[in-house]
Amino acid sequence: MVPVHNQRRTSSPRRKSPISCFSCLRPRRLFTLLKIALPLVFIICYTIYYLYDPRGHIDLVLYQRDWIQREILPLSPLGGCFEPERISPLYNISEAIHGKKRFEVQAGVTMRMGMDCYDFAGTIKFVEGEWTEEQQYIPPEERAQFHTYWRVDLARLDERQEYMLKSFFATQDLPRSRLILWSNGDLSPNPIVQKYLKLFPDSFALQIVDIPELAKGTPMESHRFLNLEDKKAWVDGDLVRLLVIWTYGGAWIDMDMLLTRDLSPLLEHEFVTQWDCYDKIYQAFNGALMHFHKHSPYLCEAFHLMAHSTPPRSPSTDWGAILYLRLWRRLLNESIPPFKILPFCLSDPLACRLDNSVPDPFDPDRRDGKWTGRPGEGLEEGGALDKALGKIFSVHLHNRWNRAFPQGGWVDRLLLRRYEEDIERKIRIAGEL
Ligand SMILES: *[C@@H]1O[C@H](CO)[C@@H](O)[C@H](O)[C@H]1NC(C)=O
Ligand SMILES: *[C@@H]1O[C@H](CO)[C@@H](O)[C@H](O)[C@H]1NC(C)=O
Repeated sequence: MVPVHNQRRTSSPRRKSPISCFSCLRPRRLFTLLKIALPLVFIICYTIYYLYDPRGHIDLVLYQRDWIQREILPLSPLGGCFEPERISPLYNISEAIHGKKRFEVQAGVTMRMGMDCYDFAGTIKFVEGEWTEEQQYIPPEERAQFHTYWRVDLARLDERQEYMLKSFFATQDLPRSRLILWSNGDLSPNPIVQKYLKLFPDSFALQIVDIPELAKGTPMESHRFLNLEDKKAWVDGDLVRLLVIWTYGGAWIDMDMLLTRDLSPLLEHEFVTQWDCYDKIYQAFNGALMHFHKHSPYLCEAFHLMAHSTPPRSPSTDWGAILYLRLWRRLLNESIPPFKILPFCLSDPLACRLDNSVPDPFDPDRRDGKWTGRPGEGLEEGGALDKALGKIFSVHLHNRWNRAFPQGGWVDRLLLRRYEEDIERKIRIAGEL
């Protein structure tokens, strides 16, 4: 008997490859296959979604491997700014670094669950009576210094920029604070600037940036990198903030921030902030809000690192986020207590997921989602958002200079209108004295 199974069933002499075999599926069979496969895929996906929480965040940045190998990973030695004989007499290291602190400003973990970050921010607060009003007059240059920068060649200082100034004068402890508005050209004829100079002469000042002058006495003095300038004001702005804090000490506040409360509880620490709640490996730190003391050895080391690195790419954060990270790692490498990193929401409550970020400041209020659900958890006065804003310190708007705040939206109601009221109250009190 001849077995039949080795007989060819088809007339084709060649074996079909899997690909060409796919095409041999007749449309009807293909249709049947899809009818089964698609619902199956859907059911599997839905089950996974139902059982598990697909907390994800897709953010793909490609870093060149040789750039990481060359610029990020190697730890060159620090410049010796922490050697006792090199620490400036203006910098009290036993107080600034080794001193006892009233508040803890780092949480140790990335607070991505619920409103944990906001609640943590709420712990950094003086208790009633702890922060007594001092009646004595403090000369402007002895007050807590705050710095911000506006480039006159990029845009006019207008209403949108004025909101930052308003937020400062409304929320800060003015008899103990001074804001210096830096610029690369004369801002004094600007009517907005004039208004606040007149209202708060001891708490507001203008200065023009002179980079070579500010860099004197630092490792960046007369450095060839000082002549770099970039269109988006990134490298330029990154350098200016380090130089002015070095010279005057104090906090830096980017112009695209709205302050929500008094920053004084933060000022016992030297710090930068967390970039966002995802702890990006090379982009972990942000300098939109930062604080260092005058002639801080941290800044001296930052200048040393800038002076001995490759020139910054433009535009880039090479003198911002990347520099802070490289510096921070070198400090650890030499067993020096590093500067602090404030959790993201303290200054940038838009830097996490939609469900734990404040609503977009430029979108009209929406009657859905996290903030508008149950009563008391909405966007109304005294509601959840209002309370959260009272715990954190600022809202970073990430430029977006061409956008306006919606009339009657949450920014308008919970921040801008209160700024007006608070400023009026401060003017009235000052008038009565
Ligand atoms: C530095 O700070 C400490 C602690 O606050 C203080 O006791 C000391 O007098 C300060 N030193 C100088 C030189 O001001
Ligand atoms: C610091 O980094 C250098 C270079 O990576 C390494 O050789 C050295 O051992 C490190 N020092 C300490 C104290 O970890």
